[in-house]
Amino acid sequence: MDFKMLYQLPLTVCIFLKFSSFVETSDGFNLLYTTNSLELENFPIRFEKELPKWLKGTLIRNGFGRFELGKHRMIHLFDAYAKLSSWKFKGDGQATFSTKFVDSSFYKKSMASGDIAPFITFMGVEPPFGILESMNVLINGLDNMNVNVYPYSKVAGSSEIKDRGYYALTDFWKIYEFNATNLNTIGPVQAKIPGKPGKTALGFLSFISTAHPLPEIGKTSSLVFLTKLSLFPWEKHSVNLVRIKATDEREIVASIPVDQLPYMHSFSVTKNYAILFFSPIYINIVKIAKTVHPFEGLDWYGDRQTDVHVINLKTGAVTSMKTENTFTMHHANAYENENGNIVLDLVTYDDPNFITSMTLDNFRDPKKRNDISFTAKFKRYYIDMKERNVTPYSFPNAKGQEFMTRFDFPKINEKYRAKKYCYMYGIAVKTDGKSLTKGAVVKKDVCEKGRDLAYDLDNVYFSETVFVPTPNSKDEDDGILLSSVLDANEKKSYLYIMDPKTMNVTNRAELPTIVPYTLHGGFFPEIH
Ligand SMILES: *[C@@H]1O[C@H](CO)[C@@H](O)[C@H](O)[C@H]1NC(C)=O
Ligand SMILES: *[C@@H]1O[C@H](CO)[C@@H](O)[C@H](O)[C@H]1NC(C)=O
Ligand SMILES: [Fe+2]
Repeated sequence: MDFKMLYQLPLTVCIFLKFSSFVETSDGFNLLYTTNSLELENFPIRFEKELPKWLKGTLIRNGFGRFELGKHRMIHLFDAYAKLSSWKFKGDGQATFSTKFVDSSFYKKSMASGDIAPFITFMGVEPPFGILESMNVLINGLDNMNVNVYPYSKVAGSSEIKDRGYYALTDFWKIYEFNATNLNTIGPVQAKIPGKPGKTALGFLSFISTAHPLPEIGKTSSLVFLTKLSLFPWEKHSVNLVRIKATDEREIVASIPVDQLPYMHSFSVTKNYAILFFSPIYINIVKIAKTVHPFEGLDWYGDRQTDVHVINLKTGAVTSMKTENTFTMHHANAYENENGNIVLDLVTYDDPNFITSMTLDNFRDPKKRNDISFTAKFKRYYIDMKERNVTPYSFPNAKGQEFMTRFDFPKINEKYRAKKYCYMYGIAVKTDGKSLTKGAVVKKDVCEKGRDLAYDLDNVYFSETVFVPTPNSKDEDDGILLSSVLDANEKKSYLYIMDPKTMNVTNRAELPTIVPYTLHGGFFPEIH
C-alpha cells in the first residue's frame, strides 16, 4: 500500500495564539445567539483597505436570525429561524451587504400569528406545544432551512448561469429557492422522490437528506443521499444515493438496504465514487413519534463499528467495509490516488453527545457551555478497494499544537475537490482546553510539510471560512479567505479577509448590524 510511505516531518508551526491573560467577554459572545430582526438589501459597506480588483462575486451564508417569538422560545440552537446574509463584491472596489430571513411557511405563519408556529423542531420549544399543536407539528413537518446554500441547475445538463437556481437547505428533502441578488425567498421545492411508480407513494417515509450536496466531478449534476423509512416489516429501510440532474429531475444511483437507519449529515464524492460513513447512530422512529423531536430520537452505540459504503457512480455497485467506531458531521475532501484507492478526510467525534448539548441555555451560560465536551478531531481514512479495508490515520501535530486537528467546519479551495490537495481550513474551539469561546482559524497542511498555521484574537469569533481563489492561481493557497466575524470586544460584526498564505487578517469591513451565528455558505462569482 503506497500510503505506508507517509512519514512524519518535523513540524514548524507559525502561530498567533495567545494563551496568557485571556479574559472572556461573555455578553458579547451571546450576540451570536440573540435575535436580530433587521433585514437589509444591498447596503453599501466600506473595507478598511482597498479590495483586490479581481474580487467579483457574492459570499452567501445561511444561519440564525430569531430564537423566540411570542409565548414560545427555541430550546436548541439549530432551531433558530433561518436568516441569509450576503456580501457582494462588484469588482470595482465597491461592496454591499444584505441579510433577510428565509420567508418559509414556518416563518410566515409564525410572524402572522405572532408566535412560533407548530412545525418540527429538533428539540422542541418552551413552553412545550399542547396535544393539538403537536399533531399539527407532524402534519406541517420541518420547514426551517437554516444550514447551507447550494446552487442546482434547473435544466438537466446545463451549466449556464441563467439555468441556475440558489437554494437554502437543511438535512431534509425539502429546499427553498431564493433570489441570490437580493435574498428574497422565491418558494419551496418539494421535488418528487425518484423510484418505481407506486413504490414511492406508500410504505416508507422519505425525508431525511443532507444539507451538504456535492457536485458530480466534471458534470452539471449533484449528488445527495435520501433515507427511506419503511413502515412495513417485509420492507427494509434504505439509504439512497440520489443524482440531482435538475431540481425536478432526480434519479437513484444506488439503494443500500439497512435494518436501522443511520443519521448522517454529509458524505464524500471522488471522480468515480460516493462514500458514505454510517456511524452507529440510528433514527429511533418510535421515540421520534412520541416526542416529535428528531434530536431526542437518536440511538448511539459507542461499541459498534462504522459501516463504510463506497458506491460506484457509473454502475451503482456498492462495496461495503467496516472501520472504527466514530461519529462525524462533516466530510472534508476525498480523492482517488494512483492505484485506485481512496483517501478520505473528515472531522470525527468520540460520540454525538455535543449535538444535544448545543442548547441555547447551555450556549448562553459561560459555565455550562465550557462544560460541553467537543472531541472534534480531523482524521484521514485510507480505503483500499481491492483488499476492502479501511485504515484510519491521525495527522501529526507539533508539540502543544493538538488544536491544529481539533477543528470542525472544514473548508478547501474548491478547485481541489476530489483531487490530491494540501490545505484544509477549519475553526478550532477550546484551543486553551477550557473555554468554548477560545477558538482559532486553522490551516492544516495534510501534505505534512510543516506548513500548519493558526490565527486567533481574543473575544473575536470567526465563522466557517470560504476560500476564494485568485484568477489563474498557481498555488493551492493563492486567494483569500472570507469569514463573518463577531468582535465581542466592540460588539460589532465584520467581514474579515484573510491571506491563506500567512493566515493574517489583511482587510475587514464593519457591518451595519450584528450577524448572528452562521453555519455554512459559499462564494458565487456569477452573482455581482
Ligand atoms: C432577482 O431579483 C432581481 C432584481 O431584484 C430580478 O431582476 C431577478 O429577475 C430576480 N431573479 C429571480 C431568479 O427571481
Ligand atoms: C501578519 O501581520 C502582522 C501585522 O501586520 C505582521 O507583523 C506579520 O509579519 C504578518 N505575519 C505574516 C506571517 O505575514
Ligand atoms: Fe453542516
